[in-house]
Amino acid sequence: MGDAGHPLVVRTRISDLTAQTRSIDYPGAMIAPRRLTPFALALLAACSPDDSDTATEAATTGASTTTSATTGDGTTGGTTGSTTGETPTTGAEAGLTYHRDIKAILDRKCATCHQPGDIGPFSITNYDETKKLAPAIADSVDSGIMPPWSPSAECNTYKHDRSLAADERGDILAWIAAGAPEGDPADAPAPEDDIQPEVDYDIALGIPEPFTPTTYPDDYRCFLLDWPKDQDSYATAFSVTPGERAIVHHVIAYVLPPGEVAAFDALDAADPGPGYPCYGGPGGEASQKAQWLGAWVPGTGGGEMPAGTGILVKPGSKIALQMHYHPLPGALPDQSTLKVRTAETVERPAYLLPLTNPGWLVDSPPMTIPAGAKDTVHSFEIDLGSAIFYLFPGSPFGIGKPVVAHAAGVHMHTLGTRASLTVERGDTSECLVDVPRWDFNWQGTYDLTGSTVVEPTDKIRLECHFDNSAGDQPLKWGEGTGDEMCLGMIYVSAP
Ligand code: HEC
Repeated sequence: MGDAGHPLVVRTRISDLTAQTRSIDYPGAMIAPRRLTPFALALLAACSPDDSDTATEAATTGASTTTSATTGDGTTGGTTGSTTGETPTTGAEAGLTYHRDIKAILDRKCATCHQPGDIGPFSITNYDETKKLAPAIADSVDSGIMPPWSPSAECNTYKHDRSLAADERGDILAWIAAGAPEGDPADAPAPEDDIQPEVDYDIALGIPEPFTPTTYPDDYRCFLLDWPKDQDSYATAFSVTPGERAIVHHVIAYVLPPGEVAAFDALDAADPGPGYPCYGGPGGEASQKAQWLGAWVPGTGGGEMPAGTGILVKPGSKIALQMHYHPLPGALPDQSTLKVRTAETVERPAYLLPLTNPGWLVDSPPMTIPAGAKDTVHSFEIDLGSAIFYLFPGSPFGIGKPVVAHAAGVHMHTLGTRASLTVERGDTSECLVDVPRWDFNWQGTYDLTGSTVVEPTDKIRLECHFDNSAGDQPLKWGEGTGDEMCLGMIYVSAP
């Protein structure tokens, strides 16, 4: 995941091993997420953990985390470190072995993506694979970039937390430091039961025809799916079944209200092949009228909305399924499926409310990010009732009443370094989500373990940090790859 002081790493992917290397005209290249270079990968595969110094050097460079506020309102720069912690007891002391102590952790927290055919660029499913990659694993765990999990644990706690618990993290690092001993397969703990509850999805909407992404290294494409219900219904759970798992990096589903469908149909018609290119949202002018249904990344099981709540979808709506592909030579075309569980009524209708300064959208004031500036801060405060009233005028809840926040997330493009959403209550501030190392590739909304009641007198504060130090052009709000956004997302319902 991104970092205020992000390592400057060449954007090369495993896919480039066989694909032609291209130069990427991409303003975010300087803060792009770290990719394991083929060179580093070959090195790692060839070396033992004792060579870890050389190996990790190849995969990481200059991870300084200090920034200074050069513009904006002078609020805190992105100085929050990741999860670097205490030195664990050594593996030798603890006598940790792969089979007894480590495999179960890796199966639970890594193999969901790092298994054959999945999005992780290599497998971490058995001893040999793990041992070979031990230096890279230690590096990724130590720096906190793996498993991908953006929100800071100091801000709030979340359901479905993918991150490593402190003891899991300590065990992995100690075990690798002790030479990654294999131990005896007979010591393996009994397999854990899969406790993911089965979700009964009643709608499955596939991408209309198989699609082969061709833009390297990232292809962002939207597909329009017809919403099949002919009366009001509420989405109460959603998930995605990727067609070609190895290339589907993340998916965002947007609800396009009936009145806006024609504008999106036109975008689709204007581009050959199924779907159309789209980047920061579902595309086009009407993008602002689209509502987030949810985001999916590999390793997410079913996405159940909080109990008793659901998002209203009107008949005649369409869904824009925004796919982020990592094209891979030899991969099959993708035909992913969106699954939704619906209910005719819910106790508490809810919105995944996008929060931003409406002024930025119309350049008044412009959300300017000057060229050469290392830490530009843009922030905005609003009370939730007004935001709901503004975006959903006929809402049954919102203005002048308490609102419950169940989940929160932020959204920027690739120059974003850090963003947060807080509830400002007089002199106190409650943190809903803080993403100290923004990574466009691993975005989402995060379900709060305990919901937060936001009173009509409270304000929600959104704060985004951007690093345009490498840029020679000022940037502003926009949908394209060369534009930026500062968006908060809160899943809200009536109390
Ligand atoms: C949600 C999916 C997912 C999970 C879970 C996950 N990874 Fe990854 N991992 C990826 C992807 C995708 C990449 C390729 C780089 C990227 O897109 O960020 C990657 C890259 C890596 C790399 C190479 C990093 C580099 O420097 O380029 C290592 C090492 C790694 N993962 C180890 C792990 C370990 C160890 C775990 C568990 C503790 C883990 N991953 C959990 C998806 C995942």
